Amino acid sequence: MENLLVEIKDRSAAEILAWALDKFGAKVALASSFGAEDMVMIDMMAKLGQFKVFTLDTGRLHEETYQLICQARERYPQMDLRVMFPDRTAVEEMVNSKGINLFYESVENRKACCYVRKIEPLSRALAGLDAWITGLRADQTPNRSAMNLIETDRVPLTQQTIVKINPLLHWTNDQVWNYIKENNVPYNVLHDRGFPSIGCAPCTRAIEPGEDLRAGRWWWELDNKECGLHVGAEGKLVRATVT
Ligand code: ADX
Ligand code: SF4
Repeated sequence: MENLLVEIKDRSAAEILAWALDKFGAKVALASSFGAEDMVMIDMMAKLGQFKVFTLDTGRLHEETYQLICQARERYPQMDLRVMFPDRTAVEEMVNSKGINLFYESVENRKACCYVRKIEPLSRALAGLDAWITGLRADQTPNRSAMNLIETDRVPLTQQTIVKINPLLHWTNDQVWNYIKENNVPYNVLHDRGFPSIGCAPCTRAIEPGEDLRAGRWWWELDNKECGLHVGAEGKLVRATVT
């Protein structure tokens, strides 16, 4: 992985995306929650031609997110979007045994819900890919500051090796928003209502001025601000394996 890092470390985000499409072709996809960072990369990739995107529709997203997905499909015909749903049987078993809003009751329940609605579909989305692209930024959490522009990752369910590329890792929040404004990129209207980070509707709230950017995610939990998309099964961050 170190040699790939050397290839991209001095490139801009747009250049890293062009490099990724060139290197991995149809075997790379952007993971998008249609948050601000993902919209920046969708806009950049559209300037390069066709590109693959997948989104994990947990079934509990905000209505505003669905509206943005429709808007993005119209604005970016170059986007080949795959919407991933959770396994119906697993959702039915979970909500019928533990309740529709089980996540508020315990961290265990919350992780079970994230597993069924996000992690298992993520594993299916990543199957067959050689690389995935995310909108992670280093200044979002202390965990994320330890990430690299390019890493060796593992598909959660299969443990298959996959390359993970984080082109906006060193971008600030201001850079993201300057790009959005300058390029007239569509964005989730919830960002204007105090939501810097947008996930599932029941698990995300607006933040107050001065609060941490991720304070609105799973706000009732003290320090579990990751859902498992970007951490390993043992709860530790999936770090680059420098080989
Ligand atoms: S999360 O792990 O807390 O949910 P966050 O909302 O910060 O993640 O988003 C970080 C990156 O994870 C996004 O830029 C995107 O690449 C990916 N991601 C998050 N949620 C989804 C989703 N629902 N579908 C696809 N990718 C997602
Ligand atoms: Fe379930 Fe909340 Fe996780 Fe969404 S963020 S999958 S609703 S626990």
